[in-house]
Amino acid sequence: MNINITLLPGDGIGTEIVSSAVKVIEKISEIFKIKINFTEELFGGCSYDKYGVPLTEKTIESCKKSDAVLLGAVGGYKWDNLEHSKKPEAGLLKLRSSLGLFTNIRPAKVYNELLDASSLKSEILKGTDFIVLRELTGGIYFGKPRGYDDTKGYNTMIYTKEEVERIARQAFTIARGRKKRVTNVDKANVLECSQFWRKVVSEVHKDFQDVELQNMYVDNAAMQIVRNPTQFDVILTGNLFGDILSDISGMITGSLGMLPSASIGEKYALYEPIHGSAPDIAGKNKANPLATISSLAMMFELTFKRKDISDVIENSIKKTLAEGYRTADIFSEGTILVTTTGMTDQILNDLIVQ
Ligand code: IPM
Ligand code: MN
Repeated sequence: MNINITLLPGDGIGTEIVSSAVKVIEKISEIFKIKINFTEELFGGCSYDKYGVPLTEKTIESCKKSDAVLLGAVGGYKWDNLEHSKKPEAGLLKLRSSLGLFTNIRPAKVYNELLDASSLKSEILKGTDFIVLRELTGGIYFGKPRGYDDTKGYNTMIYTKEEVERIARQAFTIARGRKKRVTNVDKANVLECSQFWRKVVSEVHKDFQDVELQNMYVDNAAMQIVRNPTQFDVILTGNLFGDILSDISGMITGSLGMLPSASIGEKYALYEPIHGSAPDIAGKNKANPLATISSLAMMFELTFKRKDISDVIENSIKKTLAEGYRTADIFSEGTILVTTTGMTDQILNDLIVQ
């Protein structure tokens, strides 16, 4: 096996957490005798500083040539006041659409060791294990017309049949490998775009009769995620609602610093931690590298079809947590405070093939 990965460390803590992940990949490559080649490119604020744009054609080309992309995080105070198209966030949207990454998978899973870190009572949270499946290259994020002038501002929420069909198919397929339950989340009581979305989802469902489909309005879904998160398996939703619900879902697990994500299209795939670039702790060796390492686990499972490797990585995360090691964001009394590199060393120690 010979694989090519493009690394986009990005800004803030991005470089530190991606270099942790690289150490893990190198160890995996030794253990499993896989040849792994890396290409590193600038993306985000650091790309703007050098080239005047957050995303260059060179970076896009490198991503297209590799088997998978690992992204750290982009953005920071320094670039907050740039004009819209120059911002790191605009670069991220352009990258998603250039690579056609229409499926965004954001798991909300609870590590038992971290139950106490949540703002929810642990009896409500225990057993939570669902994913937010967010459509990532359409909807109001990309719809036209869009703009503002002195008297009004406007965006367009639009979904084509094809866009809804392909994400719905993904949702049902993923649910088949899980608890076989899809909750479609929309705002069909108000928005025509959602009425159309719901209609297409139920048509696609005809091919997946073994999977249960439930519809929920987005306001109710936000409430249900906090009230009883264990009821969910796969939440299927559009770009904007998925943005909001995935933050709520990540937060209730008490471990935003722990959660990975995957963005997948027909040809390319990108993996990144859910958390941001945390400029306040950048360069201080304090960041939690586990979300990025867990994103690697997703990469091995989904892109390289190596669930065995993915399990080895996930098990080492669980073992490291069980041994009591914590970075500052998840530290509590009685546990052992470690740095980014300290946590990475523990993960490397615990990478064991059973
Ligand atoms: C996310 C982020 C992005 C989004 C921003 C940074 C453009 O919030 O990945 O959830 O809204 O999609
Ligand atoms: Mn978001």
